[in-house]
Amino acid sequence: MHILGLEGTAHTLGVGILDEEGNVLANVMKSYKPKEGIHPREAANHHASNMLPAINEALETAGIVREDISLVSFSQGPGLGPCLRTVATAARALSLALKVPLVGVNHCIAHIEIGRLTTDCSDPVLLYASGGNTQVIAFSRGRYRVFGETLDIGVGNMLDKFGRMNHMPFPAGPEIERRASLAKGFVELPYSVKGMDVSFSGILTASLNSSSPLDDLCYSLQETVFAMLTEVTERALAHTSKNEVLLGGGVARNKRLRGMVETMAAERGARAYAPPGPLCVDNGAMIAWTGYIMYKAGCETPLEKSAVMQNYRTDEVDIAWRK
Ligand code: ATP
Ligand code: FE2
Repeated sequence: MHILGLEGTAHTLGVGILDEEGNVLANVMKSYKPKEGIHPREAANHHASNMLPAINEALETAGIVREDISLVSFSQGPGLGPCLRTVATAARALSLALKVPLVGVNHCIAHIEIGRLTTDCSDPVLLYASGGNTQVIAFSRGRYRVFGETLDIGVGNMLDKFGRMNHMPFPAGPEIERRASLAKGFVELPYSVKGMDVSFSGILTASLNSSSPLDDLCYSLQETVFAMLTEVTERALAHTSKNEVLLGGGVARNKRLRGMVETMAAERGARAYAPPGPLCVDNGAMIAWTGYIMYKAGCETPLEKSAVMQNYRTDEVDIAWRK
């Protein structure tokens, strides 16, 4: 059996093909790279014009033809409306043309499930840190529940905004990481943890208004926001009595964030895990895999229920495949 998954909640159009054992046969990604901030309509146009080439490339890489696909899944939300609608339209068309079932997947949950598939963790607290999303999620009483999240912007969007104002290329995360390693001093920035939630807009404003050297600011920005994320993750671990942390999202590629989370986990007798890079960022393989385990648990998305959900909450989904 071959499962095709389409991802397109934000910048990245992803097409993944997996078999039922979870082997990733193809994981094609095409990313829209804005010069300024992301423009949803332009990103959607990018996804539309890359859709067919990306699907064909994935089929070719997997060494199969369209007719070999027996399940189509797609990211139903949360995300940018125009992007979600473009990808949902393609998924519906494929499912109808191939006469195979369709499954709509919650994007945040897919980040957890691909981690459970590709690392040794089984019941982790997920620190999901990407451009648009920043959440700490864990399984509890039949649902993936959000234990903490950003009260304003995603941590990656904050880093990208800081980078843009300082003339760095997009995405700025990797460049901020590089510059942080050249820093000579630490600059005090607002440390903003409220209960289990975090907020980044005050830190962004303070760092944009600072006249400190750019490398020092990059270093201090990383130290401050990653410490905030690690603190909230640690409290979620303590609260849920779990002993595994999973990292997901583009910001989780950052070595300093990984290091902080690993140290925190080790000090508590817990372990930290992260999927390989291409499965950490937004990708079609995670959507394909989550669609498959949902389908096996009896979930299917009929056409009339396949409308996209821009604000699709992680804890709205009944996790029928984990009891
Ligand atoms: P979504 O929010 O829908 O999950 P996204 O479009 O933000 O998706 P990702 O690929 O998960 O997608 O994450 C991109 C973000 O990751 C960008 O904000 C980028 O700056 C950040 N990023 C990438 N590499 C690093 C790094 N080494 N350090 C810090 N941030 C990074
Ligand atoms: Fe994501």
